[in-house]
Formats: sequence, C-alpha cells, structure tokens
Amino acid sequence: MPVVSGSNAADLAASLAEELGWEHHPLEVRRFPDSEGYVRVPQTSISAIREEPVVLVSTTFPDSGIVEALLMLESIYDVRRGDLSNLKGEGEQSIDDVGPGIFLAVPYFGYSRQDKKFQQGEVISAKLLARLLTRRCDGLIVLDLHAPEVLSDLDVPVSFVSSMPEIASHLQQFVQPDFVLSPDKGAIERASHVAKAIGCNFSYLEKTRIDAHTIEHKAKDLEVDGAIVAIVDDMISTGGTICKASDALRRQGATAVHAACTHGLFTGGAITRLANHVDGVHATDSLPNPRSVVSGAPAIARGVKDLISRVL
Ligand code: R5P
Repeated sequence: MPVVSGSNAADLAASLAEELGWEHHPLEVRRFPDSEGYVRVPQTSISAIREEPVVLVSTTFPDSGIVEALLMLESIYDVRRGDLSNLKGEGEQSIDDVGPGIFLAVPYFGYSRQDKKFQQGEVISAKLLARLLTRRCDGLIVLDLHAPEVLSDLDVPVSFVSSMPEIASHLQQFVQPDFVLSPDKGAIERASHVAKAIGCNFSYLEKTRIDAHTIEHKAKDLEVDGAIVAIVDDMISTGGTICKASDALRRQGATAVHAACTHGLFTGGAITRLANHVDGVHATDSLPNPRSVVSGAPAIARGVKDLISRVL
C-alpha cells in the first residue's frame, strides 16, 4: 500500500512506509512566488494510489500545513474517484471510481489546544479543522492528540495513538529515571503510562495558565530527593511549563531533570530556556525539531493497522 506525503512530514512518512513494509510516494508540492501552495499527484504514483488504500501523512502545523493537507486530500480523492481531467483535455478524462480507502495520519494536529470555547465568541478550532480534513478521507489517525474528546463526533473512525511506549523505552535506555512527573493534570495518563512502563514512581502537578508565557504550579511535596526525574508532556511550546516544574523538582532535591514530549514545538527561544533548567530534552519527530530522538512511526503504524482492521 502507498504511504503518501507532502512537504511537512516526508521523513516520517518514509519511516512509516519502512515500518509497514509499504511504498513511500512523495507528492509534487511547491510554492508559488506569493507563498501559495501547489500540489499534484505525479503521473508515476497514479496507479499505486488507485490500486490500494492510501495513507497520507501530514501535520496541520504551521497553517500552511492545513492548506497543503486539504489540497493533497482533494487530489488523492480525485485520482481515486477517477477524475483525471485537466485543462488541456489530454489523457484519460474519466475512469472507474475505486471507492473509499483514504486514511489521513496526522503526526502533529495543530490547533489541538483550542478544544473548548473558553470564552464567548470563540471557535473550537480543533473540531473545525477535523471536520474540514475528514471531508475527503475515510479514517483519521492522530498521534498524541492533546484532548481526544474534541474529535468524538466525526463522521469517520479515528484511531488515537501514542508514542509514550517508545518514549518510555528511550528514557529507560538513556536516562534511567527514578521518578516520572506529569507537569499538569492533562498529561497524567500519558506520563503515568511512561512511569508504569519504566517501573518507577509517579506524581503530577496542578498547573494554572495565566497567559501564553506564564504558568503557576500549586506547591506539592514530591519525593524526589536524590532522584533522576523525567517530566513527560504531550507537547513543549515555550518551555514555560517544563522550566517551572523543573525548578520545583530541583528545590526538592532532584539531582537530574529531563523533559520528554511527543510534539517538540520549541517556540521563541524555548531550546535556550530549557537548557538553563533541564539536563536533557527528548522529543519525537512528529514535527521537525532539534531534539527529535524518538520515531513516531511505530505509533502511527499501530493506528494504520487499527483503522484497516476496522474499516476495510
Ligand atoms: C498544555 O496543557 C500542554 O499539555 C502543555 O503542557 C503546554 O502546551 C506546554 O506549553 P509551554 O511549553 O508553552 O508551557
């Protein structure tokens, strides 16, 4: 089966294809001088995309990734539907519709944190985006989505997968933590999975976000005196959450503090900020980042297999 990608997840798509023993088909993607995107299924990939179900790998971050994902879905949909018309009217205009079989794998789902209307007049961006993306696919695979509940009422099946098993193996091999900390209540499930897989102690902090750059943690006694601690979260953006949690751990005697996450956004100087607070930062390749040390491909492969068994 073909694993297809555009510009933002080509390496991960290649790893996924290898993991599944399938073929990787990069689409033709480029930008016009005004920055608008262009997408085309190359002639050499048309038969592969029509012969078997297809997995498209695309992040929805930054915003250009959303447009690219929509364009790629539409072009794959047309090819499978048999609409091969073009302006010049050359070649076959219309052939058989090969039916459903487009799966979209989203390694990093941009806008996932706007999962509620926190104030009047807001949009639930994550839900809107999911609805747009699922117009032209028959199933969705999402890696470590911030709050999976937001995609609960889609018209297509969704496979929620996690890189926490691979993050746990990586931490066990390279960090050997005595203690795993979730920096907020939202990450408890993920971080406790890692603690359980490693077989070490676990606790969590209660976080209040004041604004995008300011958070506060409720004081809590943690038994970390002399311990190596790994803080595990779904994503690191400014690094503020991790730096604050690390300070609390150090005050209570932790000898080393590492941070691990699936999505390494690392915005606006986060890498430098983190370097002053933690001993190591470990992320997956769900989006390109300078601390990518864990592959997201095994988790996405689990989702692909899950969807295929449910849908086909
Ligand atoms: C929020 O609840 C997320 O799970 C992360 O904790 C948060 O997005 C991290 O953001 P930052 O690195 O900017 O503190």
